[in-house]
Amino acid sequence: MSLTSKAAASLIRHAPRQQLPALRSTTATVQKRSRADDAHHPSASNAPFQSPFHRGTSNSNDTTVIPSFAKYKSGSESGNKTFQYFMVGALGGLSAIGAKNSVQDFLVSMSASADVLAQAKVEVDLASIPEGKNVIIKWRGKPVFIRHRTGDEIKEAEDIDWKSLRDPQPDSDRVKKPEWLIMLGVCTHLGCVPIGEAGDYGGWFCPCHGSHYDISGRARKGPAPLNLEIPEYDFPEDNALVIG
Ligand code: FES
Repeated sequence: MSLTSKAAASLIRHAPRQQLPALRSTTATVQKRSRADDAHHPSASNAPFQSPFHRGTSNSNDTTVIPSFAKYKSGSESGNKTFQYFMVGALGGLSAIGAKNSVQDFLVSMSASADVLAQAKVEVDLASIPEGKNVIIKWRGKPVFIRHRTGDEIKEAEDIDWKSLRDPQPDSDRVKKPEWLIMLGVCTHLGCVPIGEAGDYGGWFCPCHGSHYDISGRARKGPAPLNLEIPEYDFPEDNALVIG
């Protein structure tokens, strides 16, 4: 029912009884005209809704259509690959440089500092040590005995039947120059510092438990199981000794 027909029906329902015939005639005329208008303009009542927006896959203006990037594409396939290879190579090179620097920094941080390296070696002026005397120096926190041996002491050290000792070692294996005996001053029993020019063999004596060492520093008596240790050393010049 159209809007005009509804209005006419409402007017008849609420009109006084005396006016009903006239009103019915009038409303009938209006309804006829309304129907004629409806027939003349079908879009006003029954036409389907037409959206102003174009949606749907069949329309070229549809917003769901995938846009084309053809104009951004490179015309050359080999040019693309060259660029890709360049980028991969450049990033690989940068990564390798970064890794190398990281490893290098780590290794530098792990190496000994300058003051530690300075303590690793000790230089001694041998000209200041007279024959037949002992000198004790400190090297890496340990005492080092330096003995300037006499000719008699060298002969005594060499004449011993070293094969019968508890730690068999010839004197020639313990010295680089026969007159200079260089040893760590640490008892091989439990680590005390032996006393020089003492003991039954004219070498060193450890008072802690009574170990005796001869003039070559070899264990001869007492609980010490091994000879006194020989550190690394060298003679860069005639009267110069470098320990370490
Ligand atoms: S520590 Fe030298 S004899 Fe025991």
